[in-house]
Amino acid sequence: MRVLGIESSCDETGVAIYDSEAGLLSHALYSQIELHKKYGGVVPELASRDHVRRALPLISDVLKDVGLAKHDINGVAYTSGPGLIGALLVGAGIGRSLAWSWDVPAVGVHHMEGHLLAPMLEDNPPAFPFLALLVSGGHTMLIHVEGVGRYILLGDTLDDAAGEAFDKTAKLLGLGYPGGPQISRLAKQGDPNRFRFPRPMTNRPGLDFSFSGLKTFAVNTLADTDAGDQSKADIARAFEDAVVDTMAIKCKRALKQTGLKRIVLAGGVSANQGLRERMTQLGRDQRIEVFYPRPEFCTDNGAMIAYAGWRRLVAGQTEPLVIAAKPRWALDQLSGVA
Ligand code: KG4
Ligand code: ZN
Repeated sequence: MRVLGIESSCDETGVAIYDSEAGLLSHALYSQIELHKKYGGVVPELASRDHVRRALPLISDVLKDVGLAKHDINGVAYTSGPGLIGALLVGAGIGRSLAWSWDVPAVGVHHMEGHLLAPMLEDNPPAFPFLALLVSGGHTMLIHVEGVGRYILLGDTLDDAAGEAFDKTAKLLGLGYPGGPQISRLAKQGDPNRFRFPRPMTNRPGLDFSFSGLKTFAVNTLADTDAGDQSKADIARAFEDAVVDTMAIKCKRALKQTGLKRIVLAGGVSANQGLRERMTQLGRDQRIEVFYPRPEFCTDNGAMIAYAGWRRLVAGQTEPLVIAAKPRWALDQLSGVA
């Protein structure tokens, strides 16, 4: 079975073709970073309009790339939530309509399920069950994953998502958008011993997160310095270390609580090198296996949607002849796939 996947929930148009026999055949991504940069964040209406411009040419490109025609596609998957409603509707409208005109089934994919299953595209995919740390621009979740669609939420953020905390702190330090990669780059030149940021909510039981206090801590710390380049790098380092450390502490706690022996890291923030290194270390210490997608599949992409869509289509799940998108959609409300 060959599935076309379309991702358009935020500021990236991603398209891919996944083949159940041969694996990922082709994928392409158009990032809108340049478009939104001057506004310091994503402008939803501009995002929607740009998805309209990019999606169809990208679909033609990925088909051409592997010498396939429309009749070679057996199903279409698109992100139907959560995300920006206008942006989602572009992908859902195009995906559902193409499936109808090609006379193949369509399926709407939960964006975070896409992220969660992205490590399945790698050579050494994780077996179920596993613990997942899902960290993106909109979500921070610890999940007990029993199988596809069988997700038990163990912990969530009470305020800012992990990626959001990176983005907001970057803005306060005068860095560009998106902030995660910028903080990460700057942190490499930072002194790890100059400042120590708190590890929020680690001194009480539970698996929830809270990151909004860290940005206030960053502002106050910055105000007490010369606000020069080295001070900013030192703050970036202290901030990143605090986020990474907090996540590692919660993951360790969740592993102990569930008895799970594998951990999957996914979502945009899982591209962070410091986090990946720290989790690899945690894996060694705790004798558990650690999995993460290649960096380009940590952030939004069409490949993860094609793959997640295939898992659902092959189980017989299809979308009715309706173009629907859900800006809010709880991951633990999904139906399980055998
Ligand atoms: O998964 P994603 O591409 O989109 C959402 O579903 O939100 O995640 C985007 C988020 C942004 O907040 C971005 O700053 C963050 O992931 N991010 C990073 C890194 N690369 C992207 N955060 C920390 N370190 C990185 N290297
Ligand atoms: Zn995402």
